Amino acid sequence: MKTGTEVRVAPSILSADFRYLEREVKAAQDAGADLIHCDVMDGCFVPNISFGPMAVAAVKRCVAVPLDVHLMVVDPAGYVDAFCDAGADILSFHAEAVGGLDGVRAVAARIRARGVRAGVAVNPDKPISLFTEALPEIDMAVVMSVYAGFGGQKFIPDVLEKVRALRQMSIEKGMDIDIEVDGGVNEETAKACIEAGANVLVAGSYVFGNSDYRDRIQKVRG
Ligand code: DX5
Ligand code: ZN
Repeated sequence: MKTGTEVRVAPSILSADFRYLEREVKAAQDAGADLIHCDVMDGCFVPNISFGPMAVAAVKRCVAVPLDVHLMVVDPAGYVDAFCDAGADILSFHAEAVGGLDGVRAVAARIRARGVRAGVAVNPDKPISLFTEALPEIDMAVVMSVYAGFGGQKFIPDVLEKVRALRQMSIEKGMDIDIEVDGGVNEETAKACIEAGANVLVAGSYVFGNSDYRDRIQKVRG
């Protein structure tokens, strides 16, 4: 586990009740959420459409905790400014959407130039070698533990190998990188993620699918 660092929990609003988005995100914040995870889907990179910068800006006006924005779009570079303007504090994009290492470096640099933390994600079937050379140039590695596109899917345990490898690299290189696991996180799978070295956990359906958000967030935190 990442020594001396607390586990942070990022409820994903994808599973919130959108009729009452303000109430939902405030309730998650009051229940101890460290971040609010916003899943942006374009219907092209993934077969689902969620919401864009206007919704992220609206969430920003409701809560004080940082927004962890996860872009699942084919052209993340083209949306960096829109989501930074909307109030993203961490902006993550997929390495496979930008063609690998050079793209990762370029998009991460654009995000950091806006004073926003840059995260790089990979789907379960994609190797972390798509971005590991650029680790010193990013702030967070996002290991997808389900295929991006939908909430409520089952956790894929094979991805824990990537978490272990990333934590090992981070320690060996003396870096203090955040490692986020996204998808299918619940009380049980959270334990395995933390054990493997993750320190940021996204949980959508597990938190918003129960009336006691505080209890669920505490169970994820371990
Ligand atoms: C998947 C999203 C995840 C997802 C998490 O495309 O990136 O953030 O909403 O939801 P659960 O926790 O329900 O798997
Ligand atoms: Zn996500």
